[in-house]
Amino acid sequence: MAFMNEMNENFNWLWHENGDINQPRGNRGVIRMHKDEATLLSKYCNLINGNSVEIGRSSGGSLYLMATLTPGKVYSIDVRSLESVIKKRFEPPVTDELLNKFSKFSNIVMITHRSEAIRINDTYDLLFIDGSHTFQKVVLDVINYWSNLTTYAIFHDYHTNGVKDVVDMGVECGLFEILETGKTKQGGIKQDSIIVVRKLKEIGEFISLIIARYPEYTLRIEPAKQINTV
Ligand SMILES: C[S@@+](CC[C@H](N)C(=O)[O-])C[C@H]1O[C@@H](n2cnc3c(N)ncnc32)[C@H](O)[C@@H]1O
Repeated sequence: MAFMNEMNENFNWLWHENGDINQPRGNRGVIRMHKDEATLLSKYCNLINGNSVEIGRSSGGSLYLMATLTPGKVYSIDVRSLESVIKKRFEPPVTDELLNKFSKFSNIVMITHRSEAIRINDTYDLLFIDGSHTFQKVVLDVINYWSNLTTYAIFHDYHTNGVKDVVDMGVECGLFEILETGKTKQGGIKQDSIIVVRKLKEIGEFISLIIARYPEYTLRIEPAKQINTV
């Protein structure tokens, strides 16, 4: 893919052992997504003019791309801090080298909390959902982060049941339209593992559809006093 080729020098290290370009690609790479998926995420960061939101940061691979390419701020949410994940996955001096790479960004708003308990008091053009992949949690991420989204949402791990069910229901009620998908090998079979959608309307009918389809499922919206506004 042309875009990633142009950006190789900036981003290649994300896939290499310990973030070191001289080491082979492998399990101790920083990013938790395939290059083609990262290319799709990068493409839409390049298309926006404002802010973006990431749910699910892990050791910061997707965040590094988004912070480099987003024109505005990147609100990055994970229940674990970047430092704690990097210190768990890597060893000194790699830990400090990686943390230094993130300290150069002035546009990252780092949020360490459950995504369900956060409301962002700002607008954003891109929402990247890659946190918990259960149906219930993905539904909540859509509901809680929809009103301030202007344009694109990207769901990672679209091939998993929870994510796919949520996306199918979003399309069914006209909440968004599918723009494109990206395929990767999952369990030896090529599958659509990432999907980009464009927001078409506000959340109301989506909530009604969830309630009608799953009457036994209680939407666990957090009580107002437990919500943290950022
Ligand atoms: C697949 S990883 C994200 C990978 C990252 N986007 C990348 O490409 O490098 C998923 C992350 O979601 C976080 N997570 C899971 N449930 C969450 C929740 N309810 N709220 C916030 N973060 C959550 C986990 O701690 C984990 O770091």
